[in-house]
Amino acid sequence: MISPQSIQEVLSRADIIDIVGQFVRLKKRGASYIANCPFHNEKTPSFNVSAAKGIYKCFGCGKGGNVVTFIQEHEKLSYPESIRWLADYYKITLEESERTPEQQVQQLAEEGLRILNEYAAQYFHENLLQTEEGQNIGLSYFKQRGFRKDIIERFRLGYNSESGDSFYKAAIAKGQNAAMLDRAGLVKSRNDRFYDVYRGRVIFPIQSMTGRILGFGARILKSNEKAPKYINTPENELYVKSRVLYGMYQSRQAIGKLDECFLVEGYTDVISLHQGGVENVVSSSGTSLTEDQLRLIAQLTKNLTILYDGDAAGIKAALRGLDMALGQSFNVQLVLLPEGEDPDSYIQKSGAAQFHEYVKGHKKDVIGFRLEVGLKDAGDDPVKKSKLVNEIAESISRINKAEDFALQSHYIREASRKLDVGENGMVTLINKYIRDRIDKENKHYGKEKELPAPIPEYQQEQEQTVAQATKDEEQEWQLIRILVEYGDKPFEGYIDAADFVYQTIDPDVIENDQARNIYKHYFDLAPIRPAASYFTNHQDTATQQRVVTLLQTNNEISPKWKLNYGIESQHGEMNYINDVESTIAYFELKKIILLQEQVATLLMKELDPLKQAVIQKQYFELRQLEKEIVKKHGTVVFKLLKK
Ligand code: CTP
Ligand code: MN
Repeated sequence: MISPQSIQEVLSRADIIDIVGQFVRLKKRGASYIANCPFHNEKTPSFNVSAAKGIYKCFGCGKGGNVVTFIQEHEKLSYPESIRWLADYYKITLEESERTPEQQVQQLAEEGLRILNEYAAQYFHENLLQTEEGQNIGLSYFKQRGFRKDIIERFRLGYNSESGDSFYKAAIAKGQNAAMLDRAGLVKSRNDRFYDVYRGRVIFPIQSMTGRILGFGARILKSNEKAPKYINTPENELYVKSRVLYGMYQSRQAIGKLDECFLVEGYTDVISLHQGGVENVVSSSGTSLTEDQLRLIAQLTKNLTILYDGDAAGIKAALRGLDMALGQSFNVQLVLLPEGEDPDSYIQKSGAAQFHEYVKGHKKDVIGFRLEVGLKDAGDDPVKKSKLVNEIAESISRINKAEDFALQSHYIREASRKLDVGENGMVTLINKYIRDRIDKENKHYGKEKELPAPIPEYQQEQEQTVAQATKDEEQEWQLIRILVEYGDKPFEGYIDAADFVYQTIDPDVIENDQARNIYKHYFDLAPIRPAASYFTNHQDTATQQRVVTLLQTNNEISPKWKLNYGIESQHGEMNYINDVESTIAYFELKKIILLQEQVATLLMKELDPLKQAVIQKQYFELRQLEKEIVKKHGTVVFKLLKK
C-alpha cells in the first residue's frame, strides 16, 4: 500500500503537460494545449490538455481525466502502478506500508529531523524578536539591511545567541535528543560538551514546497572573521541540497500564477525581491542548478529567468545550469545585472518598477547569450572559435523534445549565421552530439522511457511479422520459467543462473504485471532460491496457476523467431545454460524490436527532414544492437555445440 501522503505528493508534483508531452506532441493553443488524440485515430487534433486544470479531454472520442488516468489509460496500468510510474518519473520515494527495515529507519530519521527543525526554527525566530540580544544584534542587522517586519516573519528569519550553548540547553530542556541535534547540524560536541553551531548568526530556515523546515542557512554578522559567511545544514535524511530551492514555499503560488520563475543566487536576493513585490523567485543557494531543482520548478512553470551578477563568476554560474534546463524543455532566459549589483541591492536601490523594466530590456535566450559571451571571448582566435562552435552545437543538441523542434531550428539558423558556419555543418555537428548521448543511453537500454514513446494507432507494414511475435508477453514468462527451473544452478561468472538473470534484466522492463511481480518476489527471497514447488504451491492462486501452466506447456520459441534469427534454443536439463542464455537473448531482442517499432512509428509521422535524420539515427542504433545480440548469442550456441 502506498501511503496517502505519498499519493498526494505525486499528485502535487505531476505536471500534466510534462507527462502527456512524453507521449504525444502537444501544441500550445491559447491557455491550453492540443494534440492528435492518442486514444483514437484522427487527423485533426481534438485532444485538449489544460495545464491550469490539470486535465485532458478529447472532444473526438470523449476520453478525459487527470494525469493519473492518462497514465492508466495510455500505459494500461492500474491506479497504484500509475502512481508508481509517476513517482519514478519525478524521483519521488513512495512511502509504503510494507517497508524494508532501512526504509523504516530513513523515515523515522526524517520525521525526527522535521520535528526538531520546526522546534529550532521557532526558537531562533522568537529569539530574534523577543530577546534583548536578538533585537540588538539580529533584528537590528536585518533592519539595517532594509528588511521589513512582515518579510522577516514570512521567511521565519531567526537569530541565535553568541553565548555558545543556549540553544542546545533550551532544546535539551524541551526533551530534544542530542544525537538528533547533531544530525541536524545544529550542535557539535567537543571534549564531551555540546556547542551551538550557529553562534551569533542570523538564520534563514530553508523550507520545502509544502512548508516543512528542511534545514538552515546561518549568516555571520561580523565580516572580518575567518569563519565562513554561511553555515548550511549538512546533508542528512531530510536535507538534500540538490533537491531544495530556497523560497519555494513562499513563491510557489506567484510562480504558477505568473508562469515564470526567477532564479537568483542568494537567500537575501529572494527576500529583497519579495519585499519589493517580486514574489516569483527562488534561489539555488550559491550552487549550480541541479536536475531535481529544475523538476521542482517545472511543476509550476517552464519559463525560467536566471538573474545573476554581471561579473565573470556570475556569468559562469549562470551558464552551468543552462543545458540542463534546455534538456528539460525550459524556456530559459538570462538577465545579467549591472556590474557590482545583485538582485537584492538592485531592487532596494531602484524599486520594483525599474527592476521589471531592466529585466524586460535585458532578457537574453540561452544560445544568444552563449554566442554573445563566447564571440566576445574568442575574438579572432580560430581555436577558441571552433571550441565555441562545438559548445553551441552541444547546447542546441539538448533541445531534443519533439515539441521544441521549432526552437531548435531557430537556434540553428541563428548560430550558423553568427558563427559563420553553414547550417548543414551545424546540423551534422548537432547530430553527433545527439548520437553520443543516445549511445550512452543505449548502454543501458533497459531504460525505455528515455526513448520516444509509441503512437499507438499507427501500424507499420514491414515490421508486422516481427511485431506479431513480440506482441505477446511470452518472452517475459520465459524469463520466469528459467528462474523457477534453473535459478539455483551454477552459472559461469555469477553466483548462479538466477544471479545472471538478475544482473541482466531490470524488473522494471517487464511489462506484464504478474510476471514482474513474480520476478520481484523471486528475488525478494534472496539469498534463498525458491524451488519450482514454492510457486506451484503458492498461496496466491493466480501465481500458482500461472507458474503451473508455464512449466507444463511446451516452451518452444515461436517458429517465426527461429526463422528470423536462426537462434536455436535447446531445452531440458542438460542444456539449461543454453536455455537460460537464449531466453535472455530473446527477451532482449523483444525489447529492442518493440523500441524499433516505436521509433519507426515516430519516423513515419515526422515531417521535418532534420528531425527525421535524428530519429533515423536512433533507429539504426537499435538495429545495430539487435545484430549484436544475435551475433553474441550465435557464438554461445556455437561454443556449446563444439563441447
Ligand atoms: N553561500 C553559502 N556559503 C557561503 C557563501 C554563500 O552557502 N560561504 C550561498 C548562500 O546560499 C548565499 C548564496 O550562496 O545566499 C549567495 O552568496 P552571497 O551573494 O555571498 O550571499 P548573500 O546571501 O547574497 O548575502 P549578502 O547579500 O548578505 O552578502
Ligand atoms: Mn547579496
